[in-house]
Amino acid sequence: MKHFYLKTMGCQMNDHDSEVITGILLSLGYQPTESVEKADFILYNTCCVRENPERKVYGHISAFRRLKEQHPELVIGICGCMPQQPQELETMLKRLPHVDLIFGTHNIHRLPELLNRATSGERVVEIWDEAQYGEGQDFRDQLPVQRTSKLKAFVNIIYGCTNFCTYCIVPYVRGREHSRTPDSIRGDILDLVAEGYKEVTLLGQNVNAYGKDLSEKTSFSSLLEDLNTIPGFARIRFTTSHPRDVGADLIGALASLEKVCEHLHLPVQAGSSRILKRMNRGYTRDDYLRLVDQVRQAVPEISLTTDLIVGFPGETDQDFQDTLSLVREVGFDSAFTFIYSPREGTPAARLPDQIPEDLKKERIYELIELQNAISDAQMQKLVGSTQELLVEGHGKSGLVGRTRTNRQVYLEGTEDLVGSLVSAEITQASTWSLQGRIL
Ligand code: SAH
Ligand code: SF4
Ligand code: F3S
Repeated sequence: MKHFYLKTMGCQMNDHDSEVITGILLSLGYQPTESVEKADFILYNTCCVRENPERKVYGHISAFRRLKEQHPELVIGICGCMPQQPQELETMLKRLPHVDLIFGTHNIHRLPELLNRATSGERVVEIWDEAQYGEGQDFRDQLPVQRTSKLKAFVNIIYGCTNFCTYCIVPYVRGREHSRTPDSIRGDILDLVAEGYKEVTLLGQNVNAYGKDLSEKTSFSSLLEDLNTIPGFARIRFTTSHPRDVGADLIGALASLEKVCEHLHLPVQAGSSRILKRMNRGYTRDDYLRLVDQVRQAVPEISLTTDLIVGFPGETDQDFQDTLSLVREVGFDSAFTFIYSPREGTPAARLPDQIPEDLKKERIYELIELQNAISDAQMQKLVGSTQELLVEGHGKSGLVGRTRTNRQVYLEGTEDLVGSLVSAEITQASTWSLQGRIL
């Protein structure tokens, strides 16, 4: 029996691709293992959105050289976003001579053949620049998927990104936007419901662009309306929304469709209009604040989360203060905060006024401290409220449920409740989680 060890880095696109990769490997007779020592095939599904995870890949894979010496038939592979960058691929080939197999984000379906060649001793490198699909199609549609959860599933609705924010590498490594057809998405969800899934998260780098590239034009809000009519499951989530593309129709869908959960991840990136312009985000600070107002007016209980970057080239103290004040003004439920990381090949990496590392760090600490205090206050507000929870699991400390607004709640209760919806009162709050009591 052969074993594989699969390490996944990066965003939900990679998480889902790893479910596809796992499906393929199981169909080839491989079994998963958590131990690199036990593995016959080690595969890293990589992310290149920032430098840190890239460094980690070099560190880990270099350390596997020893394993390879003890066990020469071991196949070591790298896939995902990192090798889609030509200069990174070159570096990888030089710095990691013991890597046997490299493929990218557009040719995962070729894994059986590529792995077969690699196990016969060939060094296999195959990267496609862009996948050639028929309209509305993708190779993932035909492949077996091994999902990690039995309750919640990710469903891609649109692949790629064509926004070209000036700091971001994603459009270069994931290709242009292409939507799946409403029928194939619906088909996936019908299958999931039949298997007992209770929640789906619709995925895309910008779900609001959904349908624009199909010849039978449709929109994200129409898709939500359609999926909302499927009986037998409880919750629809989606990520990510680009603030520029959120319109009245999506706000209406959030307010009126009962399965669509009250949570909007709305990455703002920065609070200064000058920086937003240099980032090519397509909205100003005021546009964003207006949008937040509209969303909150329509859906008062909504949870708003965001992504923030500090230290974008040319960011002055005043620009950074604008980010802090926007964060205060909006009061996000939580935020992912990032230090700007120059990515080779992107326009921002070539800007002259890069910010020194220590100043970036100072700024991110200040931002994190502020956001943590706000997150904590937002959580405290929930104490005493009644929430609908999907019970997602059972562990040592009892049941774990999740609110429609995507917050974790710990509860007492028996394992048979896993998978059901319960009503609970929130009794206690901390920055990251809640305690509740089933009503
Ligand atoms: N498509 C999504 C997010 C993609 S990447 C969106 O547009 O919202 C996730 C987050 O990583 C981004 O929102 C951004 O905050 C951050 N990010 C992207 N490129 C980065 C870079 N070069 N340096 C630091 N953070 C970056
Ligand atoms: Fe990157 Fe911008 Fe596309 Fe998001 S929308 S993936 S930040 S280019
Ligand atoms: Fe990273 Fe690729 Fe996602 S670069 S953020 S794993 S699309």
